[in-house]
Amino acid sequence: MVRATPLLEARGVRRSFGGDLVLHEASLSIRAGESVSITGHSGSGKTTLLSVLALLLEPDAGEIWVAGANATLWSDAQRSRIRNHSFGYVFQGAHLVGSLSVLDNVLVPALIAGRRRERRDYARSLLDRLGLSNREGHLPHMLSLGQRRRVALARALVLEPPVILADEPTNDLDPRRANQIAEFLLGLPAAGHALALVTHDRALASAADVRLFLRDGVLACEEDAPEVPFGKKSGVSTDQQSRQ
Ligand SMILES: Nc1ncnc2c1ncn2[C@@H]1O[C@H](COP(=O)(O)OP(=O)(O)O)[C@@H](O)[C@H]1O
Ligand SMILES: [Mg+2]
Repeated sequence: MVRATPLLEARGVRRSFGGDLVLHEASLSIRAGESVSITGHSGSGKTTLLSVLALLLEPDAGEIWVAGANATLWSDAQRSRIRNHSFGYVFQGAHLVGSLSVLDNVLVPALIAGRRRERRDYARSLLDRLGLSNREGHLPHMLSLGQRRRVALARALVLEPPVILADEPTNDLDPRRANQIAEFLLGLPAAGHALALVTHDRALASAADVRLFLRDGVLACEEDAPEVPFGKKSGVSTDQQSRQ
């Protein structure tokens, strides 16, 4: 079977800051309907990788491909357009506009795309699904951290972008709120989105289809230790299997 073209791909990405090599070799691909989690200790380059993937930061070497096209060759204007239309980025902090209401914050990407009026009902339905329908008119400073995170999530989704990139979306939240956001995010691939998720949360990371970790600037596939040795099924010896 021929697999679909990845919506987002990193090919041999390198990136350093002031002589410190942060990403040494990062390659990954994410298809529609697929989730990828990226773990790694603090300072291992997770945010840097997500920023490069989202075309917010240029790699020193390597390429980012978007839906089969080499985005490394694009102009700034092309990159901005794709970012706004095709990527939903959930920043590590919520980064809401303090002077705008919750609903207007969610509608910022739609405003930039000239689709504010058209996306208004969808923005409200997102707030409703995220349990924030009674907060539409509030300003960000009136919200809890968890509520601000959910507003930022709604903003990332308002244009229904094919690719969602989320940077530690459940950090600093109590377990109930963290679960609410985790469940919402993990439901996105079933709706056809591609999801790249940076997280410290082991449970959230392990729920992704593909689990990667960053170590010493290298992105590697997390190997699941086999639960039982090869050739054996739990509770049934090879000898028993051969007689069945
Ligand atoms: N804009 C920047 N300027 C200089 N150094 C940076 C910048 N962004 C990140 N770094 C450095 O790159 C490394 C990786 O950072 P980051 O990608 O934020 O890691 P993580 O998200 O895994 O905690 C850190 O050592 C950090 O200090
Ligand atoms: Mg980070």
